[in-house]
Order: sequence, then C-alpha cells, then structure tokens
Amino acid sequence: MRLLRGRKLIGVDALKNLHILLAYMTVLGFVIRGLWSLLDSPLRQRKWVKIAPHVIDTMLLAVGVALVIDLGISPFSGWLSAKLLGLIAYIGFGVLAMRAQSSRLKLIGFTAALVSVGYIFAVAFTRSPWPLPTT
Ligand code: HEM
Repeated sequence: MRLLRGRKLIGVDALKNLHILLAYMTVLGFVIRGLWSLLDSPLRQRKWVKIAPHVIDTMLLAVGVALVIDLGISPFSGWLSAKLLGLIAYIGFGVLAMRAQSSRLKLIGFTAALVSVGYIFAVAFTRSPWPLPTT
C-alpha cells in the first residue's frame, strides 16, 4: 500500500499477515454462521452477525488487491485466477448454506463452501491452481 509520496504506510509482510488473519476470520465466522443456519438458531438474525461477514470479506478482498499491486503480481497469473474462481464458488455456496429452504440443501452448500475455501487456501499456499500432488 504505497501512500504518502512513495512511503509505505504498511509493509508488505504486515499486509500479508493481515490478509491471512482475515482469511482465517472469514472461515471461522462462516463455520459458526453455517452451524447456526443448519440449527435454525435465532442468533444468526442479530444485526452484527449479518454485518460483520461483509466487513471482514470486503477487507480480505481489499487487502488481497493491495498485495497484488504491492507484490507486482499479474492479475492474469493462473493461481490468482483460480483463487478468484474459488472465491466466487465460496460466496455462491455460502449463500446456499445460509438461505436454502431445506436442511439438505443447506448442508450441501455448507460442505461445498468449505471445500471451496479449502481449495483457496491450498492455492494460496502452493501458488498453483492445481495444489494437489500429481503422483
Ligand atoms: C476467501 C478468500 C481468500 C483466502 C482464504 C485467502 C488466503 C490467503 C492466504 C492463506 C495467503 C498466504 C499464503 C502464503 O503464506 O504464502 C494468501 C496470500 C495472498 N493472497 Fe489471498 N486469500 C483470499 C482472497 C484473495 C483475493 C481476493 C486476492 C486478490 C484479489 C488475494 C491475493 C493474495 C495475494 C497477492 C497473496 C500473496 C501471495 C504471495 O505471497 O506471493 N487473496 N491468501
């Protein structure tokens, strides 16, 4: 994040640590809200429970974009595109987990969202769109 006439407001390591912290926060928050959704708990109707994920996810995305700029990574690099596709799947399945009418569909959405975010983590750590062993 280059601000103030070329001086860095926050170093790239701190930015990356913040990104990783937000990544773990989004998963933790999703697991808690997903379980509340499956159990039809009234806790998930609280206002802050509805707002907090949007704040965390917006910050995660913004810090991710700042990292892409700071590290000079091409927006078309394979692993980054794979991460963004994984992110779209995570959001879509997450909506299913929270809003589906039946428990079965909620469970499918919940499981698929966790698989998607697991894929994003694996892509992030290996910087490969195919983060599984090839043998
Ligand atoms: C749910 C969404 C996301 C998760 C769970 C996630 C997770 C992670 C994790 C765990 C790392 C650290 C990898 C390491 O230690 O080497 C990382 C790095 C990074 N992420 Fe994300 N991320 C997400 C979304 C994004 C988005 C949307 C962008 C860009 C628009 C992005 C860009 C980056 C970049 C540039 C790095 C640094 C890679 C490097 O060090 O070379 N991330 N991400």
